[in-house]
Amino acid sequence: MTAPQESTFADLGKVLVIIPTYNEAENVERIVSRVRVAVPEVHVLVADDNSPDGTGDLADKIAAEDGNVHVLHRKGKEGLGAAYLAGFRWGIDHGYDVLVEMDADGSHQPEELSRLLTALRGADLVLGSRWVPGGAVVNWPKSRLLLSRGGSLYSRVMLDVPIKDVTGGYRAFRKETLLGLGMEKVASQGYCFQVDLAWRAVKAGYKVAEVPITFVEREHGASKMSRNIVVEALWRVTAWGVGARVSKLTGRNA
Ligand code: GDD
Ligand code: MN
Repeated sequence: MTAPQESTFADLGKVLVIIPTYNEAENVERIVSRVRVAVPEVHVLVADDNSPDGTGDLADKIAAEDGNVHVLHRKGKEGLGAAYLAGFRWGIDHGYDVLVEMDADGSHQPEELSRLLTALRGADLVLGSRWVPGGAVVNWPKSRLLLSRGGSLYSRVMLDVPIKDVTGGYRAFRKETLLGLGMEKVASQGYCFQVDLAWRAVKAGYKVAEVPITFVEREHGASKMSRNIVVEALWRVTAWGVGARVSKLTGRNA
């Protein structure tokens, strides 16, 4: 066995992988250890919304044994977007230079993280993408595939963003990108948070790169996708798209 390499990404600065959790007791230990093995130099922040299944306590136990793992306990379920915003803020306040989004359920493979970080050397934001050549989805039902492809297509057309996978949630941001795209103003709570951030990054003129990933559907626990999340995404994306067209016509900036 070869020893893990030290500080492969030191040129990028300090890297924090933020993992939002809500009822991920079956997954949290495995995902954190996979991250720490795959890229040992990165630190992890678990952002838990007071999960009833005790995910937060499990995360505390991991953090007690590994000084590079931290836990942000939030008071209740406020959505993926709010958990990430709190995690970004925590990371920036604690001196991290790169903030990574990763699901807890294994859908985003830690073994692909180094590919995202490598691409960040030449970009301001890197999106793990299922819909570029080389990208893939494993074990998704047809209904979910349709929802994702449809959501991505609708967002691309409405917002005119040149991104193939605009809803994906495996991403690496430079700190400057998050601050520059106006993350304090993001109001999206559910998964349209991802569309919101990508669109803001494009509008702000940042260089956004997509790298292919293989998204693997979870084996344990349940998705938090809900009708409310879809409805929020639909109305927000529509409102943003209409707003952008109106301000183009009237010559005002959105
Ligand atoms: N703290 C917190 N609070 N975490 C949450 C919440 C919340 O309200 N809702 C979901 N999460 C966490 C989950 O515990 C998991 O770690 C991660 O966010 C993703 O949730 P899933 O429920 O597994 O999402 P998904 O698989 O349906 O959706 C994935 O793909 C979408 C695109 O198709 C995610 O990556 C989405 O961000 C992405 O838009
Ligand atoms: Mn999932």
